[in-house]
Amino acid sequence: MIAKTYTILNYGCQMNESDAEHFAGQLKDLGYEETVSYHDADVIVINTCCVRESAEKKILGKIGELKHVKAEHPGQIICVAGCMAQKDGGKLLKKYPQIDLLVGTGQVNNFKAIFADHLAAKGQKIYDGIVCGESEFEGEAVRRSSFSAWIPIMYGCNNFCTYCIVPYVRGRERSRGIAAVKTEIANEANRGFKEFTLLGQNVNSYGKDLGEKNAFARLLKECSEIKGVERIRFMTSHPRDMNEEIVRTVAEHDSICKHFHLPAQSGSNRILKAMNRGYTREKYLELIASIRKYCPEASVTTDIIVGFPGETEEDFEETLALLSEVGYDAAYTFIYSKRSGTPAAVLGEQVPIEIKKARLQRLMEVQNNSSLARNRKLVGKTLTVLAEGPSQNKSDVWSGRTDSNKLVLWPAADHNYTAGELVSVRIDSAQTWLLKGTAEA
Ligand code: SAH
Ligand code: SF4
Ligand code: F3S
Repeated sequence: MIAKTYTILNYGCQMNESDAEHFAGQLKDLGYEETVSYHDADVIVINTCCVRESAEKKILGKIGELKHVKAEHPGQIICVAGCMAQKDGGKLLKKYPQIDLLVGTGQVNNFKAIFADHLAAKGQKIYDGIVCGESEFEGEAVRRSSFSAWIPIMYGCNNFCTYCIVPYVRGRERSRGIAAVKTEIANEANRGFKEFTLLGQNVNSYGKDLGEKNAFARLLKECSEIKGVERIRFMTSHPRDMNEEIVRTVAEHDSICKHFHLPAQSGSNRILKAMNRGYTREKYLELIASIRKYCPEASVTTDIIVGFPGETEEDFEETLALLSEVGYDAAYTFIYSKRSGTPAAVLGEQVPIEIKKARLQRLMEVQNNSSLARNRKLVGKTLTVLAEGPSQNKSDVWSGRTDSNKLVLWPAADHNYTAGELVSVRIDSAQTWLLKGTAEA
């Protein structure tokens, strides 16, 4: 008998990448094998994101296209999962009859049962109750990488930043137990995984719902001590709940990576307040000072939104000044996108698109200079790099990441590297997005 096949089209953040690996694990358990082409897949899972309108548009286009794919493949099952499924469930089913089932963000760990149920019952169906967090994933994830694993430590978000849809589609914060997280890491370390990224929308508030204060610092420390763990990463940090104890924990443990992704979103106190971010520019800069004090070698990255409703030229200049003051290693920059149902969507004073685009451009220029300056400081240093694989363009050039999450390329010569191996690389030159070097024996 020929095995049935599946393919997953994944969009969105690392949490979605992690969820996709869990869908894959459960489909494999049901006897499905992965195929790369969705033209001949028996099951297509589209794991969706709705954080910005641009993401939604792209995904809706893809769902539309799948109508024709399905017409050529009768019996094909189209499953829409993730944040859009959670947000627009019924509307999507009505508009796109090619969709067979909708699986919400809280149902990842129940996917196997849902899928089996669907096979027995047929007909369009929605599964969107928020439960993930109460139930543990029982199977084995099919991971994209052979050495680096995503480890969700909490689901949902309680922050309700006024621009953001995530709390509405991912529900309230639910932390996984420390024991469950550690068991998963220990099992994957046993299977040869080296690097673990602890995931959550606001990892610094990990454990609050379990009644424990500053549980994240403890979790970090305990995870870093698990046998076989080379590197622990974490994201995303929220300035509201970040503190010195966490910074010191990072500083004190070699296996905890010296990289802080600490999104500022804006440098203007007026805008930060309107965004409901829960900190001021001054509090944010104190956190940066604490990072520089305890982890001087750490890289710091941020997310910035331009064109939040009411953002004036002065507000925007404060953001530019914040960028210069902090000297980020990288910034992920976004044009504000109106999300209906969020408080910011109904604010007057929406910023015209031309102004938003011009601000984005100015922001990126300042940031590119800063990234290059930060990278240039590493020239001449020897850094430990976790080898990932041959680079995208050249098979005889290898690529990997430093502890501080910098992308490094080096000629492999006739050396046979393996993915997941630690390599010492002397940095010879720096660009905005990457470093180039030579491996040391
Ligand atoms: N929980 C994380 C990030 C989640 S979304 C955090 O708080 O940092 C990732 C990034 O998308 C956010 O940091 C923000 O910069 C951006 N974002 C979220 N909603 C947005 C919107 N409506 N328009 C533009 N960017 C948005
Ligand atoms: Fe969205 Fe704010 Fe939650 Fe991040 S912390 S997911 S930006 S509401
Ligand atoms: Fe997108 Fe959902 Fe992540 S909206 S950014 S996939 S939490």
